[in-house]
Amino acid sequence: MDVTGWAAASAPGKIILFGEHAVVYGEPSLSLAIDRRVRVRAAPDAAATTVNGERLDRHRHAYLDTALRLHWGDGPLKMRTESEVPSASGLGSSAALSVATTGLLLRLGHRPSRPANVAQAAFEVEYETQGAASPNDTTASTAGGAVLLSPEREAAMEPLWQLSRGERSWFAHRVPPPSLSFVIANTGSRARTSEMVAKVRRFVDSDPRGKKILQEIGRVTRDGVDALRSGDAARLGGLMDRNHELLHVLGVDSPVLQKFVEAARKVPGTWGAKLTGAGGGGSLIVLTEKPAGVQRALAGLGADAFPVVPSLRGLEMQP
Ligand code: MEV
Repeated sequence: MDVTGWAAASAPGKIILFGEHAVVYGEPSLSLAIDRRVRVRAAPDAAATTVNGERLDRHRHAYLDTALRLHWGDGPLKMRTESEVPSASGLGSSAALSVATTGLLLRLGHRPSRPANVAQAAFEVEYETQGAASPNDTTASTAGGAVLLSPEREAAMEPLWQLSRGERSWFAHRVPPPSLSFVIANTGSRARTSEMVAKVRRFVDSDPRGKKILQEIGRVTRDGVDALRSGDAARLGGLMDRNHELLHVLGVDSPVLQKFVEAARKVPGTWGAKLTGAGGGGSLIVLTEKPAGVQRALAGLGADAFPVVPSLRGLEMQP
């Protein structure tokens, strides 16, 4: 805590390169932390817990409320949050908020607060708040860089940590981050992750193609790791396109996402494009050697498009 009594933490947003939704069913996923962050500060308060000067509201501040319920046993706190990650846009704003807040609460409560502890505890916050979640987003935000989450320990990869819930386990691995350019385009249409996860659940339970599509996403993800490690942008882009088609069949694409994906693919120098995150709106990512051209094409269609670079910075706490 600094002299004014405030402690602070920050954590990055993320993009999912491969494997969203399928990861909920035990397939691997590959994510990259991005250079946009969420910052949280907290200090003891004598009266009541407040967020940005207003009393904590368990609906409006759902992730903070869960984090406090699960990981805080002491008195009221005044909390301040700031975000560079647009909310409900598929870029991991709620995971980054959960990670930064959980890290801060564990540290202030003198509980184990190494990244492995925070990744597990922040996953519990997301799971409780959303009703269903994989540890993908909270793991990528805690670790920074490029992360493969897998149901198995991958012998050839650098291990990060193991996560669990009930009988299920996931293993997080560090993948060397690519030196590639991505453009993110936010459609501006917001979709709730919990609703999109429930939509996929209905599809998988009722359509015989469901399980095969999830398994194919798993194969695409593994091929994506190879392409990333060998720096093969053309192969990576082709796999992103394929992953997008599979997500389209699962029903999490949207007409505006599809329009933006098609427009991005037409720009010379684009290797691939796909929705990222839960879908239904939210954002797409474009792998391109001409970021300015893609940004112009998408901005012309009304998207909020910006270049991002993968960030090695995961959870950071001060002091
Ligand atoms: C959302 O960013 C990713 C999903 O796979 C949900 C999850 O993994 O919890 C759609």
